[in-house]
Amino acid sequence: FFLYYMKGILLHGGHGTRLRPLTHTGPKQLLPIANKPMSEYCIESMKDAGVTEIAIIIGGIGSNKVREYYGDGEKFDVKITYVKQDEPLGISHAINLCRSFIGDDKFLVFLGDNIIQRNIGDFANEFLKSNDDASILLCEVDNPSRFGIADMHEGKITKIMEKPKDPPTNFAVTGIYFLTPKIFDIIDNLKPSWRNELEITDALQILLSENNKISYHIITDYWKDTGTPEDIINANRAILENKTSYFYGEKSDSVSLTGIVLIGKGTKILGNSQITGPVIVGENCILDNVCIGPNCSIGNNSQITNSNIQNSIVMSDCIINTPIKIRNSIISSNSEIEFKNKSQDEKIFLLGEGTKILI
Ligand code: DAU
Repeated sequence: FFLYYMKGILLHGGHGTRLRPLTHTGPKQLLPIANKPMSEYCIESMKDAGVTEIAIIIGGIGSNKVREYYGDGEKFDVKITYVKQDEPLGISHAINLCRSFIGDDKFLVFLGDNIIQRNIGDFANEFLKSNDDASILLCEVDNPSRFGIADMHEGKITKIMEKPKDPPTNFAVTGIYFLTPKIFDIIDNLKPSWRNELEITDALQILLSENNKISYHIITDYWKDTGTPEDIINANRAILENKTSYFYGEKSDSVSLTGIVLIGKGTKILGNSQITGPVIVGENCILDNVCIGPNCSIGNNSQITNSNIQNSIVMSDCIINTPIKIRNSIISSNSEIEFKNKSQDEKIFLLGEGTKILI
C-alpha cells in the first residue's frame, strides 16, 4: 500500500565495454541471469516500490532490442516510455533527459545493471513520507575505488564522491536513488568529470553542500553491480539459490537431479545426465549425457550433448557437444561448440552471439 506515488527512470544505455564480446550485439542490461534479462529484475524492484510508470533510457548498441523486449510494458504490468540518450554522457545526463516525464514529483532512478534481492518498498514509503531531498542505499564492498562512495559522520552523510583513489569508507552508493526534482537544476549546472560524464555522485554532493538532506540506508542483502563476467556468474548463483525447484519437462529414468533444479516445458533430459543445482534450464532444450551444475543457466532451445558445464551461463539456441569441461563461462545465443579433437581439458569461454568453435 503506497500513500503517494512515484515515477521511475531505468538506465538502459551506456557502453558495456567491460563485457565485450557479450555486448557487441546488445546492451549488457539484457544479458540473462537465471534466464531473465538483468534489467527485468530492476523493473520488479521498481514495482516493489510502487513504481509503474517508467522511462527507460536507451542508447547505443541494440536499443531496438530493449524496445522489442519490454514493448509498452503491458506484459510486465508497467507503463513504459522510451527516452533516447544519443551519447552515454553520464547518469545525471540521462536523468536530466526525463525532466518533463517526471514533472514535480519525487522519483526513483534505477541503474539497469544493479540487482538487489531485497524488497525496496519500505524505503520508497519512508522517502515519500519524509522531507528528504534524496535518499540512497549504501552497501559495503571490498573494492570501494570502483564505486561511488559515501562518507558519514554521526549518522549523517558528509561527502559523496565517485570512484575515489583513497576511499574514506567502503560504503558504495548503489545504483538505486530516490530523488526530488531539485536534482534537475543542479544537473543543469554540473560540469563533466574526468571521464567526461555528468556524474550522479557529483550532483548528490552539490545537493548536500547546499544544505539539503540526503538520508541513507545500509543494505546487507545481496546487491550487485554486474560490471564483469564474474559478477554476472555470481549474480546468477545468488538468484538461483533463492528459487524453488520445478519440473515441466521429461526425463529418462537414469537421470539424476539434485538440489534446486528448474526445468522448463518441452525440455528433455536423456541418458545418464546429472543435474546438480542450482540449475535452471529453459523450454524445449535437449540435454543428453551431460553433467550440468552447480550454478548453471541454460536458455531455451539449446541442445547439449556429452558435455560437462559448471558455474556458467549458456543462452538460448546453442549447440554444445564437447568433452572439454566448460567452467565459469558465458556463451551467448546461437553459439556452437563442437568436439573435433581428442584433447581433454578445461576451458573458459566468453562467446558473443552466433560464435562457432570447433575444438
Ligand atoms: O553500480 C553502482 C555505481 O554505478 C555507483 O556506485 C556509481 O557511483 C555510479 O557512477 C555508477 O558507476 P559505474 O561506473 O558502474 O556506472 P556505469 O557507467 O556502469 O553506468 C551505470 C548504468 O547506467 C549502466 O547500466 C549503464 C547506464 N548508463 C550509464 C551512462 C554513463 C546510461 O544509461 N547512460 C549513461 O550515460
